[in-house]
Amino acid sequence: MTSTAHSHGFVTKGIHWLSAGLIGYGYLKGLDDVAQLSHPGVMQFEVAFALGLGALFLLRLFWTKGAAGATRLPTDAPKWEHFASKAVHVGLYASVFGIVLSGLGIALAYTTSVLGGLFQSAMIGLHEFALSALPVLLLAHIAGAIWHKVVRRDGVLESMTGKLPL
Ligand code: HEM
Repeated sequence: MTSTAHSHGFVTKGIHWLSAGLIGYGYLKGLDDVAQLSHPGVMQFEVAFALGLGALFLLRLFWTKGAAGATRLPTDAPKWEHFASKAVHVGLYASVFGIVLSGLGIALAYTTSVLGGLFQSAMIGLHEFALSALPVLLLAHIAGAIWHKVVRRDGVLESMTGKLPL
């Protein structure tokens, strides 16, 4: 019998669900073609969105690591759960920062001629890779949350949702 997780605080929950909403919005809005960046309004919005998302994830990293504690997984949970949880969280941060930084790289390459086509192709490749990796990691993340709700019943899902009647 493992112990029961105590809830994340409202700041951690607020940042978590705000970033989930922004990630969802980011996929919905998408861009089909780098040429769309020739519209100044589109370019400004994309750069502002990337900077905002990057800043939110940096804040979140410092907040959960420094102030609030990054996980509510009970310390006596099996070792493989600690490993899987850590690996998926690291992967989530890495893909979001990968998407943001390569997106800013694409914008930079588009507005300056100094960096050349090779740099732009590398940034587009990284952007597409990170954009494909994130949904896979999110599926693993959500599967983990359901595992804790249905099998372990240790309150880890509720630590981020509150007491939803699930
Ligand atoms: C239906 C969607 C989601 C559910 C049910 C969910 C559930 C959870 C739960 C229960 C935790 C706490 C885990 C723990 O205390 O160890 C957590 C933490 C976390 N979630 Fe989610 N999540 C969802 C969507 C997302 C999205 C879209 C992201 C975006 C990348 C994300 C990134 C993270 C990260 C990085 C953590 C680790 C703690 C932190 O840095 O805040 N989650 N999530």
